[in-house]
Amino acid sequence: MEKFSERVRNMSFSQTFVMSNKARELKAKGVDVISLTLGEPDFDVPDNIKQAAFEAIHQNYSHYSPVPGFLELREAVSNKLKRDNNLNYKPSQICVSNGAKQSIFNVLAAIIDNGDEVILPAPFWVSYEEMVKMMGGKCVVVETSIETEFKITPEQLEQAITPKTKAILYSSPCNPSGSYYTFDELKSIAKVMAKYPQITIISDEIYELINYEGKHTSIAEFPEVYEQTAVINGMSKAYAMTGWRIGYSACPDWLAKACEKIQGQVTSGANTVAQRASIVGLKTNPSEYRFMVDEFKKRRDLVYQLMKEIPGFKVNYPKAAFYFFPDISYYLGKTLNGTRIENSDDFAMFLLENAHVGTVGGLSFGSAECVRFSYAASEKDLVEAMSRIKKLLAAG
Ligand SMILES: Cc1ncc(COP(=O)(O)O)c(C=O)c1O
Repeated sequence: MEKFSERVRNMSFSQTFVMSNKARELKAKGVDVISLTLGEPDFDVPDNIKQAAFEAIHQNYSHYSPVPGFLELREAVSNKLKRDNNLNYKPSQICVSNGAKQSIFNVLAAIIDNGDEVILPAPFWVSYEEMVKMMGGKCVVVETSIETEFKITPEQLEQAITPKTKAILYSSPCNPSGSYYTFDELKSIAKVMAKYPQITIISDEIYELINYEGKHTSIAEFPEVYEQTAVINGMSKAYAMTGWRIGYSACPDWLAKACEKIQGQVTSGANTVAQRASIVGLKTNPSEYRFMVDEFKKRRDLVYQLMKEIPGFKVNYPKAAFYFFPDISYYLGKTLNGTRIENSDDFAMFLLENAHVGTVGGLSFGSAECVRFSYAASEKDLVEAMSRIKKLLAAG
């Protein structure tokens, strides 16, 4: 007998995992599927980080760590935030978690009560909406479009604020759009937010280092909002350490304490071996790992050229992260090969079943008109995937 809580009944499975599982199922049946569903680097963990993990095992780092992480790791995070972002955070303001995902969860759990509103500029990362709902919060989605590089304006932001607004949550660089907010854009957003010190800004910067064009800015750099900002970052993307599960938050003292309190009752400190290895990763100059970003950039340029040739696609030019988020609204309401396409999820399913290319429909990112393509895949697969889709849609 199934006895789900209201909370679980209201939750959706991550559409990213739904589509990647479907792609895997087809593959298991012998279909030659190219999966561009998952947001994970296809590189190996850099050798110096691996070496540090071996050493940590030999040195018997096998016991519980402090809940917010080893002091040495929090010092390394604090130094990294100073070195790369000109941000001053004491180690006591940092909480290391099982991935940035848990860091976001901790912050939301610390501040959201039933009925509180959280502003989500769309498109947003799939888990934001579900986590807010899990806390009993209400998502206030602010729409954007491909014409504005999927970015909100300060005016749009201010219009979305109500007396119930508790937080704004966004990623820059953004998954799924691949856009990032520039210094000037964040400055004008900070100017609005400074008028509402009761609202927490949750700034997810997990793609910080995967930026092909400009210098990354954290909104916490603007002193007028530093005290109301939670910076989220981690090791998954730039260090190709998705499976090692290390992320962190840097917060005002009161919020950092709350994150530690929550984590202490739910998961305790993150994996100790991965923590020790992360110390080495964070102490290394990021330029050592830049070769991965250079490779992603090459693929971005390649896919951009090929995707522009696909009929009916309006293609964005992503400047960061490793996703394309083309607008496929041309196909909405049409019937392709006997399949009616009502929204972007139908379109993603159509691509999987007919071109055997796995993508993720935009609905769960808050966009019914776009589809997400991850280009964290080999050049060969990317070329083949674009060719299959072009052929399919040209024929349709
Ligand atoms: C925007 C964004 N934030 C957070 C995460 C989660 O990162 P982690 O692996 O550190 O939990 C992801 C992973 O896809 C992401 O895209």
